[in-house]
Amino acid sequence: MWLLHSTTFLNHHLKKSHAITCIRRIQSVPNQTLEPHQPFSKPVSVAPMVDVTDPHFLQLLRIISPSKKNISYTQMYHVNAIINREKQLERLCGPPEENTVVQIGGTDPETMAQATNILQASGFSEVNINIGCPSSRVQAGSFGAVLMKTPEKVREILTHISDIGVTIPVTVKCRIGVDEYDSYEYLCDFINSITNQTPVQHIIVHARKAWLKGLSPEENRKIPPLDYSRVYKLRHDFPHLKFTINGGIETVDQIREHLKVVHGVMLGRKSTYPLVQCEIKLQLVDSFLCL
Ligand SMILES: Cc1cc2nc3c(=O)[nH]c(=O)nc-3n(C[C@H](O)[C@H](O)[C@H](O)COP(=O)(O)O)c2cc1C
Repeated sequence: MWLLHSTTFLNHHLKKSHAITCIRRIQSVPNQTLEPHQPFSKPVSVAPMVDVTDPHFLQLLRIISPSKKNISYTQMYHVNAIINREKQLERLCGPPEENTVVQIGGTDPETMAQATNILQASGFSEVNINIGCPSSRVQAGSFGAVLMKTPEKVREILTHISDIGVTIPVTVKCRIGVDEYDSYEYLCDFINSITNQTPVQHIIVHARKAWLKGLSPEENRKIPPLDYSRVYKLRHDFPHLKFTINGGIETVDQIREHLKVVHGVMLGRKSTYPLVQCEIKLQLVDSFLCL
């Protein structure tokens, strides 16, 4: 049954092949040169997407692109879901594959630490914390993008996670700003605060700010302009950290350009096109990146 669904899914998207090959480069990549960085083991990843990167979709991606260099993020799970379904985690998040990162959302340091610990004990190899979701429900729970306004709270969460004995990598996915907290200086202070003596060494940055009032989550993925140069600048100003860039990236050429500057590239909406996945596998993972 699952394979039947996958085949239908693939056929549906295969019809779009021509359109995909004709994708225009709608976002130009700033032409900046920086010191070359060390190769990163996770250069291309599929973004966490609620109701998209569920266990079935992630399994489909593994079939299309079996390379362990292709990293997939699960959809966001609230920490309470992880804690309450500890015994059925595989049904919730899928199997603990080494190239799958589980994204969690929450605000209470103790439960965040407990959930991360459960994921580690269940064999998951990496956890990502959502600090970029602007939805009103998420805001009501005081997590997601709203946490960008309280770096000390994020720091507290991360400190609890390390104090409880978690050793697997913990990363953060954030925006370049939120509401009026959108200066480059604020972003640097935020990054500094959440990485200084915490387990976080790798940050995924959605290269647009979020407006918490007046824009829906969908509009927050379109209306605030992309600013890749901010992420490039972070990579320059925090040379000891790893940065993955996200937002509006659609083609292999764009991926290649970004990888000249930052360590990783994350694809969201475009990764739901299997042909884009195939293209990445053929052109990037199998040739360029594996060299
Ligand atoms: C349907 C959908 C669901 C999403 N759910 C999440 C989520 O659970 N966690 C998260 O951090 N971002 C979520 N996002 C945002 C994406 O991870 C990504 O940051 C955003 O789509 C920008 O990347 P793109 O332009 O490549 O799509 C979601 C995006 C979409 C389209």
